[in-house]
Amino acid sequence: MIVVLNFGGQFAHLIARRVRDLGVKAEILQCDATLAEIKALNPVGIILSGSPHSVLEKGPLPDKGVFMLGVPVLGICYGHQLMAHMLGGRVQNKEEKEFGKEVLSIKSKTGIFKGLKSKEVVWFSHGDQATKIPKGFSVIAGTSSCPNAGYADVKRRFYGIQFHPEVTHTVQGNKVLSNFLFDICKAKKNWSMKKVATQIIDDLKTEIGNEHVVVGISGGVDSLVAATLLYKAIGNRLHAVFVDTGLLRKGEVESVSKSLRALGFKNLHVIDAGELFLKKLTGISDPEQKRKIIGHAFVEVFEGSLEKELKKYKISYLAQGTIYPDRIESASTSKHASKIKSHHNLTLPERMKLKIIEPVKDLYKDEVRRVGEELGLPKEMVWRHPFPGPGLAVRIVGEITKDRLSILREADAIFTEELKASGEYTKIWQSFAALLPLKVVGVMGDARTYEYMIALRAVDSVDGMSADWHKIPHELLEKISSAIVGKVRGVNRVLYDITQKPPATIEYE
Ligand code: XMP
Repeated sequence: MIVVLNFGGQFAHLIARRVRDLGVKAEILQCDATLAEIKALNPVGIILSGSPHSVLEKGPLPDKGVFMLGVPVLGICYGHQLMAHMLGGRVQNKEEKEFGKEVLSIKSKTGIFKGLKSKEVVWFSHGDQATKIPKGFSVIAGTSSCPNAGYADVKRRFYGIQFHPEVTHTVQGNKVLSNFLFDICKAKKNWSMKKVATQIIDDLKTEIGNEHVVVGISGGVDSLVAATLLYKAIGNRLHAVFVDTGLLRKGEVESVSKSLRALGFKNLHVIDAGELFLKKLTGISDPEQKRKIIGHAFVEVFEGSLEKELKKYKISYLAQGTIYPDRIESASTSKHASKIKSHHNLTLPERMKLKIIEPVKDLYKDEVRRVGEELGLPKEMVWRHPFPGPGLAVRIVGEITKDRLSILREADAIFTEELKASGEYTKIWQSFAALLPLKVVGVMGDARTYEYMIALRAVDSVDGMSADWHKIPHELLEKISSAIVGKVRGVNRVLYDITQKPPATIEYE
């Protein structure tokens, strides 16, 4: 196990994912974790992450004891600077800042740099730098503007690097991390999705015993994989409730139900609540209000299903598809966390007294997907793009009507179909159509039309926190646009959204 101390930003998640991809279990702890919390995980090595902060402006520091545990420590960027700051070196803010790719000259091709060339392309993002290295350390790499970009105390097995090995722009980044894990920390490969799936199923069996569990299926991959793990653990003591809000994508209820039934699922309750949601949403245009109404209606329907269809069972647990980043971010009460994403789990009334169980709570999204594949779920389900809880409601600007929903559902299905047929779908992190309820003029045959606009959104992202618009080939855009305008009645114009997040969000509401 490797402990990654999180000093803010998204660096720690990227590092933990890379470590896990190399086959070693990694856990993130907040930078202010106590020494006891760190020791409890029994780490073979500690990685100090980057951060948007500066040690010169009272940035966060770890417990000094991390340098006395006798385990190797790798400081990355801010982590590298804080090692200099805490262990007797010096950090200064240099006029010359480094952002982007740089050529690193490597002085010592051993330790973490074993197997690298004398010059390597690495990725920097910093203003401060260590101008004096601590006693006992020697310089192992540098650039023209950052001469102490790498230093090491080989005896104590402390390494500091100013660049980011966890980003793909650092060509040999994985090699550096792998050297640290296997040569320096002597870590064992103990993290494979097969092992993880077996372990989760065993743990669920022990935790749940003979009790019954209810799980809400949303159509998304997290709840689907969570439900499948539970099914493998407790069989028909699992009761799945799939609320059809009427805000789902075309064919979603059918395809999700089909995959669950194909796995042997018997207790699947699909509740058709489309009319109820639509009624409650009538006349509502404010995005926040829409989300609230949907959240409340969901709880109402879900609770109703427990009271009606499931009342003959004594249900003790509510299972949720919370994943690792949701948990780490919502737990980071640390004042240093610069981004906290609110997440959208079901909050049932306390009086229901259900215990919460979260089968995929330790996994990243791509790990959830790989576990899904291990469990035999269809690739098509496992690799679907993320879909928000409030569904198509956040993709129709303004009021939601039956008509608008059906136009959007058709346009979205065509967009997805074309992306899949061309092979572009798998290159994209998330894609969908949105309906802009402005009527614009067009011409069809001899007649003028006055219809809605559809906006297409396709983005590249790692976790949805920031995103770039995906560069879909023009010929494909043209094909999609013609197909939508040709086949979907009520649309006469298609736009492609070329805005990054930030400043735009991914969804429209
Ligand atoms: P935004 O629009 O905030 O979206 O840039 C970032 C990511 O989060 C998803 N999203 C949601 N997911 N419930 C969810 O489960 C929600 O209310 C919700 N809102 C946004 C969105 O699809 C994107 O992947």
